[in-house]
Amino acid sequence: MYVCICNAITDRQIQDSVSSGTVNSFSDLQAELGVATCCGCCADLASSYLKKPKGRSVEVTDLTETVAA
Ligand code: FES
Repeated sequence: MYVCICNAITDRQIQDSVSSGTVNSFSDLQAELGVATCCGCCADLASSYLKKPKGRSVEVTDLTETVAA
């Protein structure tokens, strides 16, 4: 599927670039493939293929339970 019509860039090309590790940011994507460098309509969809940064997860515990002494 074409993601960037202006530059004829497909989702496969974007996925390959991201999985190769050479593309880590939206500006990398623009520099390597040229997406969103013309009309910009593809920017949101193209950036959705970028890897999401890993964040810390927080475990929530039930603090209402009482412990019998
Ligand atoms: S559709 Fe990608 S720059 Fe126009």
